[in-house]
Amino acid sequence: MYEEPNPTLEFLKTKLQGFKPQWGIILGSGLGDLVHHITTVYSFSYNELPDFPKSTVTGHAGTLRFGYIGNEPVMAMQGRFHYYEGYTMQEITFPVRLMKSLGITQLIVSNASGGMNPDFKVGDIMIIKDHINLFPDNPLIGPNNSQLGPRFVDMSEAYDAAFIKKACNIALQSSIAYKEGVYAGLSGPCFETPAEYRYLWRIGADAVGMSTVPEVIVAKHSGMRVFGISIITDLGIEGHTEKVSHEDVLKVAQAKEPELSTLIVKLITQPD
Ligand code: HPA
Repeated sequence: MYEEPNPTLEFLKTKLQGFKPQWGIILGSGLGDLVHHITTVYSFSYNELPDFPKSTVTGHAGTLRFGYIGNEPVMAMQGRFHYYEGYTMQEITFPVRLMKSLGITQLIVSNASGGMNPDFKVGDIMIIKDHINLFPDNPLIGPNNSQLGPRFVDMSEAYDAAFIKKACNIALQSSIAYKEGVYAGLSGPCFETPAEYRYLWRIGADAVGMSTVPEVIVAKHSGMRVFGISIITDLGIEGHTEKVSHEDVLKVAQAKEPELSTLIVKLITQPD
């Protein structure tokens, strides 16, 4: 369980010298280039942060950046932690707890995902409107620290409706095509079988991936507003399921990253 005082938090508080981020950003596979839109004030490799988990996946740099997008102070994670790497749910969501302790109230999460919705194409941007937790675990299992949040967390609006509306408007104004959909999060590391993709579509998911859900659960536990966005990097649609590799996922994600970054930058900088 996350407790304060905490060595990572104490280290960051000393280094940040009063810099107070308002937005947290977690960048998914192949989507780390958003950091080029940040005027960086402080940057740390995960390795230099005391008690911070280390990133092991290709495409995840493992850098924590503090700086400004426009006039907005942000904290961005270039590289996240996944359940399939062997991390506990508490380790995966530790950075979200840190964000909250540093004063962040708004979280943006991005990921690469496989699309089951027959209207989807490879390269589509999907604004996440809801999720289905299919991980065999939940970061809130165990004793609840009521200082951090309630025992039973309301998830009726996990993805902030006002953020979704604003993002849709920005996409329209910026001629960025987008879909909206439900993200199913599961452990991986296998990609899905055709039968699993079919099952996921039938239970109401439009896209599937191996991240995001744990971080969003902890963000909601902490009372944050959340915005989530997926790049559809491959398809699990009946008759269209092709072989998928991590390299393909990274390639598609990287190609769509500029549009995704435009959307996120405008979401942060444009007034509500
Ligand atoms: N399944 C699970 N995770 C993924 C996929 C997928 O098809 N694509 C990218 N991440």
